[in-house]
Amino acid sequence: MQKKKVVVLTGAGISAESGLRTFRDSDGLWEGYEIEEVATPRAWRKNPQLVLDFYNYRRRDVLNAQPNAAHIGLAELEHDFDVTIITQNIDDLHERGGSTKVMHLHGEIFKMRSEENEQLIYEIEDDIQLGDKAEDGAQLRPHIVWFEEAVPMIEVAVPIVQQADIFVVVGTSLAVYPAAGLITVAANSIPKFIVDKKIPSTTSVYNLTAIEKPATEGVKELKELLKPFVL
Ligand code: APR
Repeated sequence: MQKKKVVVLTGAGISAESGLRTFRDSDGLWEGYEIEEVATPRAWRKNPQLVLDFYNYRRRDVLNAQPNAAHIGLAELEHDFDVTIITQNIDDLHERGGSTKVMHLHGEIFKMRSEENEQLIYEIEDDIQLGDKAEDGAQLRPHIVWFEEAVPMIEVAVPIVQQADIFVVVGTSLAVYPAAGLITVAANSIPKFIVDKKIPSTTSVYNLTAIEKPATEGVKELKELLKPFVL
């Protein structure tokens, strides 16, 4: 018997208990930085050093962070379900938590790419410096989808969500599109669960069960609620 397909959309809230700040909570990462100053193509043109500093700092934060019980709990669901994680996060905590199918909608902090050719992508663990070049001779930049840029992975994500038997959302304010729209792509008939310490408002989503808890506790409860669906 084939395992049921569980598709999980995650956001910054799942990594909060690993010590990585979220974007829109009151202690959020954008405080002190205007989004426009660090996460837009315009910022990159205007002050690439500031943008590199910002992401170099974040890369060190992620290196020092560890997956928490929520990342690990979702990975453990693979025993009973065919699980795909669609994350808006640029950290690698799902992978380090043991999940085997992880798709990053907004890029990855441990990758960099040519500013000219988005196919020229390289692994990176330390800092990107001004003057570091890709093989096409262009400056390297973080492999991050900035505001005002297209989100190419959404094309891959949509059919995965359409085929889900169960859809789960963990730790996202559902404020940023197109990612936020994935919840409306899931079939009306399937069970849906949302885990968040403060559930964001969702309109016209059918069959939605809210678990208003921090991710580590909420995922534990989710696993109990999913037990009846194990084949
Ligand atoms: N457990 C569960 N949820 C939490 C926790 C926690 N410990 N801490 C915070 N949250 C929730 C908040 O209540 C909020 O709903 O996580 C969510 C975080 O929302 P945002 O900060 O908006 O992060 P996210 O939704 O991932 O942002 C989406 O926006 O800034 C861009 O590209 C960036 O991928 C990011 C995208």
